[in-house]
Amino acid sequence: MSEQKTALVTGAAGTMGAAAARGLAENGVRVVLSDIKPEPLEALASELATEAYTIAFDISDEEACRQAVGRIEQEFGNIDILVNNAGILSNNKLMSTTAEEWRRVLAVNLDSAFYLTQACLPQMKAKGWGRIINVSSFAAKCGGITAGTAYSVSKGAMIALTFSVAAETADSGVTVNAIAPAYVRTPMVEEQLTEEQRTAVVQKIPVKRYCEPDEFAHVVSFLASPKAGFITGEVIDLNGGLQFD
Ligand SMILES: NC(=O)c1ccc[n+]([C@@H]2O[C@H](COP(=O)([O-])OP(=O)(O)OC[C@H]3O[C@@H](n4cnc5c(N)ncnc54)[C@H](O)[C@@H]3O)[C@@H](O)[C@H]2O)c1
Repeated sequence: MSEQKTALVTGAAGTMGAAAARGLAENGVRVVLSDIKPEPLEALASELATEAYTIAFDISDEEACRQAVGRIEQEFGNIDILVNNAGILSNNKLMSTTAEEWRRVLAVNLDSAFYLTQACLPQMKAKGWGRIINVSSFAAKCGGITAGTAYSVSKGAMIALTFSVAAETADSGVTVNAIAPAYVRTPMVEEQLTEEQRTAVVQKIPVKRYCEPDEFAHVVSFLASPKAGFITGEVIDLNGGLQFD
């Protein structure tokens, strides 16, 4: 049997992060649950199938990321799987996006993945095994249907970061991949749309329904699995057929 792996999931207090954590635990992975909101993490930890560790920090803060990874390594063990999932949505298009909003969205959605990848990669390379999974979005590919400019740019850059780090780490046993979901059934999607818009959206999706959070979790667990080791620098679309490429 292969050694039990440990995953750090950011945004674990959110719908998709919690689903990813549950899925990884069901596959025997020990999970570090992290979010800026500490409260929901303990409850989630107690229901997981494997041992879990919780830690609250702001992923847009470089020093906080470094300290958190150091603490996790010391108190829970090395991180084998990094799931850069936390993110914030912003729907403002170019002319209505303020510089402050631009910087905040890029700091939370993109800079965080840069900081956490830098912090986790040395241990993965030393072990000769690692999985980095970056949560991008269909917005990166379509310019954002309802999503705004800063959000779409942050998710596009997440794909470029994936390619760049995948190329750099390909010979070290570390894979780096992205997932580009569209319309996962979460409050992030449901709360921003009116009932009318929700019906119109489902009509536009070729499979005629939203993506379920556990379908997203399944892709995370697949990319994290030992046998996905030949897949790196890939962007897995999870968009119900909205775009074929
Ligand atoms: N919901 C969708 O349809 C969809 C589609 C494409 C991509 N995504 C992406 O999937 C990811 C998860 O989305 P979700 O729908 O579960 O969102 P969500 O809002 O439920 O969860 C996001 C989590 O990130 C946390 N977070 C926000 N800022 C943070 C910070 N500075 N530091 C630490 N944690 C922070 C929040 O507290 C929240 O718990 C996001 O990156 C989102 O952009 C979602």
